[in-house]
Amino acid sequence: MDRICLRPLRRRDHRLCLRLKVRNTQRTFVHSTRFSLEEAKTSTVPVLLLGIWRGRRLIGFAMVRYQPCGVPGISGPAYEIARFLIDRRYQGRGYGAAAFRQLLAFLRTLPLGPAGAVFLFCNQKNTVGWNLYGVAGFRQTRIFNTLHERLAVTCIS
Ligand SMILES: CC(C)(COP(=O)(O)OP(=O)(O)OC[C@H]1O[C@@H](n2cnc3c(N)ncnc32)[C@H](O)[C@@H]1OP(=O)(O)O)[C@@H](O)C(=O)NCCC(=O)NCCS
Repeated sequence: MDRICLRPLRRRDHRLCLRLKVRNTQRTFVHSTRFSLEEAKTSTVPVLLLGIWRGRRLIGFAMVRYQPCGVPGISGPAYEIARFLIDRRYQGRGYGAAAFRQLLAFLRTLPLGPAGAVFLFCNQKNTVGWNLYGVAGFRQTRIFNTLHERLAVTCIS
């Protein structure tokens, strides 16, 4: 498989990032990159924007928030994988799994500060997403956010 690489998204990559699209059936699973880039600007907690590259081509995007006080269901500081997507043209080739492994390895270096856990919220119907997170060791909880997405957690310390 081609080499996949995660790098912080530079300002000049934003235009490419805006072109990343998921399948129509996946649009309820993740916010658009346009929404995410706007949201990052006004975040009250530290945010990391990461590009997922295959060679010189941007094929995906991840947004991580550092939650210094945790969230309901998680005590203490934690990293939240707030967005994770692979462009629809590049899905189903193992790139999502490879990028997700790299993302977790990167978060284990605690790039924004100490933390004991990584968490995310995922739509119940997102079977591909849940498969990815299950393989990566995420445990599903009984906690839901206001969008009815289920909280999943894994320890990193
Ligand atoms: C979730 C997502 C990132 C996965 O990326 P991907 O590159 O397509 O995933 P991979 O090719 O690495 O496949 C990962 C696993 O899902 C399976 N899979 C991938 N696409 C699939 C499909 N359409 N149907 C069924 N299984 C599928 C693969 O077989 C693989 O399973 P395995 O590890 O048991 O072999 C991608 O589908 C996506 O961007 N979805 C929309 C956004 C989203 O839902 N993000 C998560 C929000 S919580």
